[in-house]
Parts: sequence; structure tokens; C-alpha cells
Amino acid sequence: MSVPFIDLQRFEDGFLDDWSAVVAEMSRNTAFMGGPAVQQLESNVAAACQTQHAIGCGNGTDALQIALRAAGVEAGDVVLVPDLTFWATYEAIVNNGAKPVTVDVNRADLQMDFDLFCAAVEKYKPKAALLVHLYGWGTGRLQEFRAFSQKNNVALVEDGAQAWGVQYKGQSIYKEAQIATISFYPAKVYGAAGDAGAVLTNDSETAKQIRSIGNHGRSEHYSYDYVGWNSRMDSLQAAWLNLGYGHLEARLSSRRQVAALYRAALQGKYECLAPPTDYTENGYLNCILLESAARRDTITASLKEKGIGFGIVYPEPMSVQNGAGKYLHAKVGGDTAAAVCQQILNLPLFAYMRDDEVNQVIETMLALA
Ligand SMILES: Cc1ncc(COP(=O)(O)O)c(C=O)c1O
Repeated sequence: MSVPFIDLQRFEDGFLDDWSAVVAEMSRNTAFMGGPAVQQLESNVAAACQTQHAIGCGNGTDALQIALRAAGVEAGDVVLVPDLTFWATYEAIVNNGAKPVTVDVNRADLQMDFDLFCAAVEKYKPKAALLVHLYGWGTGRLQEFRAFSQKNNVALVEDGAQAWGVQYKGQSIYKEAQIATISFYPAKVYGAAGDAGAVLTNDSETAKQIRSIGNHGRSEHYSYDYVGWNSRMDSLQAAWLNLGYGHLEARLSSRRQVAALYRAALQGKYECLAPPTDYTENGYLNCILLESAARRDTITASLKEKGIGFGIVYPEPMSVQNGAGKYLHAKVGGDTAAAVCQQILNLPLFAYMRDDEVNQVIETMLALA
């Protein structure tokens, strides 16, 4: 039996019928931009993330760009970013005219290393930093990141593209963030039917600014406070997300269960990463660190042969990308990110994965151990 890395077609009973009815109604109303669907989504997202404000936008990359701009980042400013992350985080800095400094990660939790971060702040005096919550959890030193940034006047933008449903000390990870972002890309834990994103904050003035920057910098229809972007959330995406909202606990619980099953079965045979203390993961990704790239090649060749999907998130750090060199201001730390990229393997994990599929993956991995 083959098992996909991800399957987006595991819809709840009745979901597609409800969706067809919503599309028909919205098409009749021509309610394509803003309106009640987006308002509903923003209010649901703010409630789930325990923040005062959630502002919808075009995608998770725009959310980062808008958040950095709202955090006061201007051309020439230095912004810190982990070396192990998705390329959008690097792009968002460069697209704001700012200068990225990559910071190496900590091998224990795969997130930006706190001690290196402090050293980078001392040395480069950044205007802002992007703390990326990767793999379905966050850094074990989140409170220290927040406190140190505040003390040193560094705007801390938390990229929560992968963190929907992650709990930190029993609360939403987004709750205490200065500014945080979300991606609703279809493959995310809370996925749309296309591109969509959101920016979260507890500050009303910042929220106003974010809403304006994502809508051409408007103050009135034809008056502008900022040079912004056109990054309004599409109402159809909001409507899809609203239909999924009531199913999120079931989706999260299914993902968390699979993540735990893998760990229980494979720990000891493989180095299975787990969230740091104080976290409840969302089951976004399974992460195994293998001994070497050669060992990974052997395992992935067998998985391919058996029709079992896998991911390598990510194959290379930011600082070595062809597109990075021209903009890279500095690189702080060693090569932990590069080593992780050689060793990481992600097994299939998605909501409503069946037991027989999970067992098939586990049996295959045990046979290869
Ligand atoms: C960590 C991270 N940041 C940013 C993004 C960008 O989000 P989007 O694809 O919605 O632009 C993603 C998702 O792809 C991501 O995983």
C-alpha cells in the first residue's frame, strides 16, 4: 500500500456540499472582497489565537512583509532570521529593503539559537528579528527571546506560518507575541483553498497600520498614509476557512495522534525530534534526524520503492541559497543548520491519516532501522 506524504482530500462528511452552497451564494452576491466572510474569519482567528486583533491578508509571505513594515523596518535596517527556515522569511526582509543576518539554530529544538541570537543583537544592532516557529512547535526559550528583544528594542516578529494550534504553557503560542503571522497555504494545519494569511497583534494602533499597509496604505478610499501592498484576503478563501473552523480540533487531534504514534514506535531506533517542555505540538511535521546524508539516501530510496512519501524540510539553509548571497549582510554561528539539512527526514503526516497508513510507514521504517 502506498502512503502519500500529505493528502489534502480527507474532507469531513458534508464539507464539500457545504462549500458548493457557499460558493453558489457568494457568486450570486458577488461578495468577493472583504465583507462578512473575512470579518468572521478574522474574529475566529483572533479568538483561537487569543490575540486582540487578526488582520487577513493575501498569504503568509505578505503577512511577514506587512508585519516587518508595521514593526518599523525600513531600507538599510538589519533584521535577524534563522538560517533554517522557509525562504519566504528571507525574502520578506529583502523585499522591505532591509539587510538579513542569518543566525544558526539549536540542534535540540531546531529553532533559532538563543545565545547566538543575543550575540547577533549585540553585534549587529538589528531593528527587528524574525523568530520562526518551525515543525509544529517553537523554541524552548521563547520567553527569553521576547524579554531580551523588548529590553534591547528589537521588534520581534514571530512567524507562526506552521504554528496553528501550537500551545505554549497552555496558551496559544501567538497570545503574547508582539506581532505574529500565519499562513493558510493549503498544506498548512489550517489550510485555505488557495493563498491566504493573517497578521496578529494585541496593539490597536499596530493593527490599524497593518490593515492599511495591506490595503495600499489607504486612510480613505483615495487617500494614502503609507506606500503599502495590495494584499487583501479573498472572501472565498475566508469562507473556506470559516467552514473548516469547526473541524480544527478534530484535525489537530488527528495530527497530534499520528505524531505521537511515530515517536512511540520509532524512538530508540531513530532520533525522533519532540517539542521542548511547555509545548503542545500541532502535528504539522514529523522530524527524524538520521546519522548522515548517505543514510538518508538509503532510507529515502527504500521509501520511494515502497510508494511511501516523505519530506526533507529543509534541504539547505538560507545563507547558501543562490538568491541569498547578494543580500546576506552576515551569518552568525556555525553550521548546525547545514548539518540538520543533511540529516532531516519527515514522514507522512496529515489530518485523518488512517491507522493502516501509519502502521505501514512504521513497519517500513522499523525494517530499515
Ligand atoms: C515558516 C514559513 N514562513 C512563511 C511561509 C509563507 O507562507 P505562504 O506560502 O502563505 O506565503 C511559509 C509557508 O509556506 C512557512 O512555512
